[in-house]
Amino acid sequence: MDFMDISKMRVTVRKFSQKPVEEEKIEKILEAGRWSPTAVNAQPQRIIILNTPENLAKVKEFCSFGYDQKYVDLSKECDDKEHGKINLYYGAPLVLFVCYDKTACWTHPQSGKSSGATDGTIVATHMMLEAASIGLGTVWISYFDEDKAKELLKIPETWQPVCMLYVGYPADDFVPNIKLGCHRKPLSETCFYNQAPLK
Ligand SMILES: Cc1cc2nc3c(=O)[nH]c(=O)nc-3n(C[C@H](O)[C@H](O)[C@H](O)COP(=O)(O)O)c2cc1C
Repeated sequence: MDFMDISKMRVTVRKFSQKPVEEEKIEKILEAGRWSPTAVNAQPQRIIILNTPENLAKVKEFCSFGYDQKYVDLSKECDDKEHGKINLYYGAPLVLFVCYDKTACWTHPQSGKSSGATDGTIVATHMMLEAASIGLGTVWISYFDEDKAKELLKIPETWQPVCMLYVGYPADDFVPNIKLGCHRKPLSETCFYNQAPLK
C-alpha cells in the first residue's frame, strides 16, 4: 500500500474484536517502532507490551474516571454509568504502553528540554501506521491515570510514560467517529510557505 493510502485509511478505533493479535503482527509493529528516528539515535523508548487478561485488567483500572457525559457522547463504549464511571479501555486485546527513559535521551543544551517525549511520540506513530498497514485498528491514548499506571505496571523511576496504543481488530460493528475524527482542516489553515500568516 502507498504511504498516503495508509495515512488516509487509518482511523481511530474505539471498539475492538476479542480476536488476539498474532505474535508475528506484534513483532512487525514493534520492529516499525524500532526503526524510528530518535534524537542522536539514543533510542530511549521503553515499551511494555500488555496482552494478558491480568495486565489488561490493570489498564482498565487506570483508565477509569468519574462519569462524564462528554466522553460518552464521543464513544458509547466508555459508558459505565452503572458504577458512575467512564472507562476508556475499549476492550483492546493488545496495549502498547510507551515510555522513555529519562536517563537515556538527548537534552537540548540551551533549553535543557528533553527529547524523550518527542522520541516516544515518533516511535508510537510509526507503530500506529504499521498496525494500520497490516489491517489492525489502533487508538492513541493520552488520558489515563499516570501515577496509577506506574504503580500497577511497576514502571521504573526513570521511565516517563508518553502514551498508550490500543491495538486490535476492529469489532464487526465498529464505525468511525465522524463527528470527532476523519475530517481534516485544509492545508491553507495549517501550513504557511516562508512566513507565518500576518494577523
Ligand atoms: C496525542 C493524542 C492523544 C489522544 N488521546 C486520546 C485519548 O486519550 N482517548 C481517545 O479515545 N482518543 C485519543 N486520541 C485519538 C484522537 O481523538 C483522534 O486521533 C482524533 O480525533 C482524530 O481522529 P482519527 O484518528 O480517527 O483521524 C488521541 C490522539 C492523539 C494524537
